[in-house]
Amino acid sequence: MSTKYELKNLATGKSTQLDSMSGTIGPDVINISHLTRDMNVFTFDPGFMATASTESKVTYIDGDAGVLLYRGYPVEQLAERSSFLEVANLLINGSLPTKAGLCAFHDSIMRHTMVNEQLLRFFQGFHHDAHPMAMVSAVVASMAAFYHDTTDINNPRHREIFAHRIIAKLPTIAAAAYKHTLGQPFIYPRNDLRYCSTAHGGANEAVLDMLDSIGSVAQIDKFLSKVKDKSDGVRLMGFGHRVYKNFDPRAKIIRGMCYRVLEKLGRTDDPLFDLALKLEEIALKDEYFVSRKLYPNVDFYSGIIYSALGIPRSMFTVMFAIARTAGWVAHWQEMVSDPNMKIGRPRQLYTGPTQRDYQPIEKR
Ligand SMILES: CC(C)(COP(=O)(O)OP(=O)(O)OC[C@H]1O[C@@H](n2cnc3c(N)ncnc32)[C@H](O)[C@@H]1OP(=O)(O)O)[C@@H](O)C(=O)NCCC(=O)NCCS
Repeated sequence: MSTKYELKNLATGKSTQLDSMSGTIGPDVINISHLTRDMNVFTFDPGFMATASTESKVTYIDGDAGVLLYRGYPVEQLAERSSFLEVANLLINGSLPTKAGLCAFHDSIMRHTMVNEQLLRFFQGFHHDAHPMAMVSAVVASMAAFYHDTTDINNPRHREIFAHRIIAKLPTIAAAAYKHTLGQPFIYPRNDLRYCSTAHGGANEAVLDMLDSIGSVAQIDKFLSKVKDKSDGVRLMGFGHRVYKNFDPRAKIIRGMCYRVLEKLGRTDDPLFDLALKLEEIALKDEYFVSRKLYPNVDFYSGIIYSALGIPRSMFTVMFAIARTAGWVAHWQEMVSDPNMKIGRPRQLYTGPTQRDYQPIEKR
């Protein structure tokens, strides 16, 4: 049963009742959609710290408990037992595919890996040192112009083809961006190769820059004092998360992966990895980080994996985007097919000048 809440203006005595809504798990939400109509106020919640902007069935996160579920399945189980394409299929369709379903999905993705030859010409317009992520964003945006046979977002089949196209083509576009930065010819996709599970990568470029700037284990204490002092605005990159206030479950998985990759490459004595592990060990015991619930996030480890694999730092965000595409597409599909979807228009607390008259330039 929905719990009722009451919001009262203590100055005027005017009040309104608000209903709560329950999900399948997680805290209830209070429906405030009539608040402006009833009380003539907006809510103020920078960064959506206490606001759910939509209903969703794709992902569940409990940042305090370190829980992450994709369509109900714990991320640990999927990372251990599933493949990238199976998870992509799960995210988009809502349930784990049958053998035949996965086979058909796999075939469809493989059929779409090639990109239109004209699309590749876009890269010629970029200077060789353009950031790969900027190139990839621009080329992805141009896909609507190349594949306009599937741009009717109200047509489920169009949406499906678009979803398959973008998942399939992103690795090809990412590889083209990389080759362009090297000034080498593009390489066409090889459909006999499997997807590997690409790792997260928002701040991992910054994590490696930070490790470089620390330089050696002997400098860790000095660096951490600077972080804690705060006056320089230096943060321990790869630590802390807006939602996960416990050990990020993905960080646990990728930490293990980091060991496995370095072991396989025979690089467990990598000085950068050594420095990262020492930094992690010290920070995890440090009162400053413990009291603020700051734990290593995925980026702390993914940069080390990528650099061990020989992937340049400027490509990290692109690698991240390849993996994220499946989730973005799943959320987009869900949003567009929801009959109650509304355009997102958060309001603001205006603190600028009140109305004033234009002054001619000679009077200013
Ligand atoms: C991710 C991040 C933006 C989350 O920030 P947030 O939820 O808004 O947390 P806050 O900025 O409110 O930080 C809470 C406290 O921890 C401190 N803090 C947070 N992350 C910190 C970090 N990485 N290093 C040092 N101090 C940090 C803040 O200074 C603040 O301290 P205070 O309570 O004394 O003011 C933040 O942790 C961060 O900048 N991390 C480093 C960058 C990074 O790794 N990003 C990748 C995220 S996947």
